[in-house]
Amino acid sequence: MPRCVAILPDAVADQIAAGEVVERPASVVKELVENALDAEARHIRVELENGGKVRIEVSDDGSGMGREDAVLALDRHATSKVRSAADLVGVSTFGFRGEALPAIASVSRVSLSTSDGSGEGTELTVAGGRLDRVTSVARQRGTTVLVRGLFFNTPARRKFLRSAASETRAAHEAVSTLALAHPQTGFELQVDGSCRLTVPAGQEPAERLASVWGRDLAGTLVPVQYAAGAFRVSGYIQRPGDAQPTGRRTQLFVNGRPFKDPFLVRSAEAGYRAAIHPGDRPSLYLRIEVAPEDVDVNVHPAKLEVRFRDRIGVERVVEEAVRSALGSLVAAVPVGEWRGLPVPGISSDAPAGSELLELAQLFSGEISTPSLEERQESPAGFEASLLQVFDTYILYQGPDGVIIVDQHSAHERVLYEAVLDHLSGAGAPAQRLLLPLTVDLTDEELDALEAHGEDLRRVGFEVEGFGGRTVVLHAVPAPHPRFDAEACFREMVADLARGRFGGWTNRLQRFAATYACRAAVKAGERLSEREMRQLLLRLFATDLPPHDVHGRATIVQLPREELERRFGRR
Ligand SMILES: Nc1ncnc2c1ncn2[C@@H]1O[C@H](COP(=O)(O)OP(=O)(O)OP(=O)(O)O)[C@@H](O)[C@H]1O
Ligand SMILES: [Mg+2]
Repeated sequence: MPRCVAILPDAVADQIAAGEVVERPASVVKELVENALDAEARHIRVELENGGKVRIEVSDDGSGMGREDAVLALDRHATSKVRSAADLVGVSTFGFRGEALPAIASVSRVSLSTSDGSGEGTELTVAGGRLDRVTSVARQRGTTVLVRGLFFNTPARRKFLRSAASETRAAHEAVSTLALAHPQTGFELQVDGSCRLTVPAGQEPAERLASVWGRDLAGTLVPVQYAAGAFRVSGYIQRPGDAQPTGRRTQLFVNGRPFKDPFLVRSAEAGYRAAIHPGDRPSLYLRIEVAPEDVDVNVHPAKLEVRFRDRIGVERVVEEAVRSALGSLVAAVPVGEWRGLPVPGISSDAPAGSELLELAQLFSGEISTPSLEERQESPAGFEASLLQVFDTYILYQGPDGVIIVDQHSAHERVLYEAVLDHLSGAGAPAQRLLLPLTVDLTDEELDALEAHGEDLRRVGFEVEGFGGRTVVLHAVPAPHPRFDAEACFREMVADLARGRFGGWTNRLQRFAATYACRAAVKAGERLSEREMRQLLLRLFATDLPPHDVHGRATIVQLPREELERRFGRR
């Protein structure tokens, strides 16, 4: 078959470019807001209708454009920001390709009105990449770009758009990111006529962070200030004790430009070392300063990623910056905070663990108080007294040797089986909460919740969207004095967002494991003799598994022969 090599018509080339630059409404919002920032706007207003699928409008009070420039701006590779390849090194504006406006205009109906303040303004309308009309308008200095019917002429792309709620969240995220990067500029986001974000111009970075992330989260942060070699790192990171599995925010900047880099986030997390629970994800806001020639911002079509010349160096500095910020935090804790250190020689029959084993009455809602008979009764195999060592293991004499039980692992197994039994039956009875819990989640987590809401309901969580990033839990699986339903919910949603679950059975087991791990008595908790006995009773009522839900040993036996061999009796 003969092949024809042909130059693509401009309109097609623009649409292809648009695929890289314009993925969804959030990318349009990002490009238009960046243009407004480059035009040195003091106030930027973004309006969305139906997640941006129907209408996106971005207005600014920046420099604006004269008529000729405005017409040119819609041409491919028309940019006022870069003149030669050499300018690309250390470029400080957000735009430099001259691609965004024509790309957007090629897949939507755009109308742009602008004025540079010197005379009458200009209004242009473009549809599917073709300039339709140029008229004069009266308007103040600045620019308004109105984008309607995104992807109207590329139905295949339109199909990939998510729900309005999901597109709105992504656009919200894009505006928040830029608002964080530019505390001096005022931002407003309107979604279907209601205001989602307003931040005034002229804020300090810390103020801006509190306005965008919310005062609750901002109140859990500590400052970072660090310099080493060619890098400077500043910002705010979450105190270890406040980090949670869900709802975390991360924001990285290089030379004031927001970018994404999961590996650098991991380097920052490495700075926490053992200070956080392995499942917890601290919120991070880190600004990296580096010489412009040491970072390339032109490696990603939507400029979301950057490339550092000294990759290893920047990772190390970020980790160190986090570690040193946390180090000063620990030093700042008053000595009085270290109460509860064990005092050798004084045995305390602390009531700390006294309610723990009542957890075994999972989902039943009743709290058991064992009768005197029950207390004295022991299953065959551990009539001997029980000894707790290191507040972690229970020791007793079995028929053929010394038995050692890991208390956390044992309790976890007991709870795990109880939950699975319950769930594979009629489903978990949800218990309504008198005071609903509100939980802040990230966009990915909200998307996961949207996709798996039904599964979570089956498990017993009754969740309602609250608008923005907050959801409300009206009911949870069997609330219990010691069950941290919120932490459990957060962990499950975080897992869902990371796509760790397979099918429903897998999800069920995973839920049971998360539940059991969260509710079980921990290593290091003192147990009374009665509690140890109850725990063993319940453990031996299960199928006596040799290991726990993570595959670690639950029970270890030290055979009598082994003792005899070691003491030379055999
Ligand atoms: N809101 C605005 N105010 C003033 N001028 C603008 C505005 N938006 C666009 N322009 C002008 O139009 C030109 C083209 O914008 P466009 O976003 O397409 O390209 P760019 O910003 O130069 O590069 P990039 O494709 O990387 O965004 C800009 O260089 C700028 O001169
Ligand atoms: Mg631009």
